[in-house]
Amino acid sequence: MDSFSKSVAATLPLLRRIRDQLGSSPMASAAALDRVAASARDSRSVSRRMVTPDAPAPAPVAPVSDPDATWTWEALEQAVTTCTKCPHLVVSRKHVVFGVGRRDADLVFVGEAPGADEDAEGEPFVGKAGELLSKILSAMNLTRDDVFIANVLKCRPDMPPGTSGNRKPRADEMATCLPWLIEQIHLIQPRVIVALGATAVQGLLDESRPIGALRGNWLDYRNIPVMPTYHPAYLLRNQSNSEKRKVWEDMLAVMERLEMPISEKQRRFFSA
Ligand code: URA
Repeated sequence: MDSFSKSVAATLPLLRRIRDQLGSSPMASAAALDRVAASARDSRSVSRRMVTPDAPAPAPVAPVSDPDATWTWEALEQAVTTCTKCPHLVVSRKHVVFGVGRRDADLVFVGEAPGADEDAEGEPFVGKAGELLSKILSAMNLTRDDVFIANVLKCRPDMPPGTSGNRKPRADEMATCLPWLIEQIHLIQPRVIVALGATAVQGLLDESRPIGALRGNWLDYRNIPVMPTYHPAYLLRNQSNSEKRKVWEDMLAVMERLEMPISEKQRRFFSA
């Protein structure tokens, strides 16, 4: 079979499933067909293996998800970036956005899902909200390289053809993708997680109280303290100092929890 026929053969079952599940007739571009064929090829050749006795021993980590499931970073990244669990996102995505930063970070930031900019670049938080996140990190005397940044959903939620903008991930999409984030957290073993916005809190903790009520109060993810706070995109929409101050107070609480030095200037950033 030539490569185009292989792409069609790999894609047709996915399109049929989308048609049956959504009741609409999806179409795939030649580029999407190529990506599906590549994913199908890679996921066959990549072993989504757990570490076997023959493989190099992983660093010991306390079990967070399945205590028997110990991935290497390499195997996990391969599995995530070739994932085909959401067929509709396989055909719409440009990149799977795995996550960036230190793989032994004390601090992990969790967002909801890649937007158009992140999908184009393959990196989380690179658009306007990402710029604001980088500024918040800088105010904490941190860089993106000091922390790990990931999303609950690793693929951009698809949009109807011809529309721009982003949509929130659906609960079923987050539930499907969550095991990847859990494995990342398992490997990192952070001391603190910051959940950015209501959707991230919902996806990670299945907690649906409003973010305005949750933020500033420690939650728990399998014995790892989680600080819920507003999503940077919310701060971009609502530029009031009082909302910025709330996020900064949440970050000061995170810094305290991590025993980071806090200067008087940092404490007074948003004081009147
Ligand atoms: N918003 C998110 O939640 N995640 C990103 O990566 C970008 C924007």
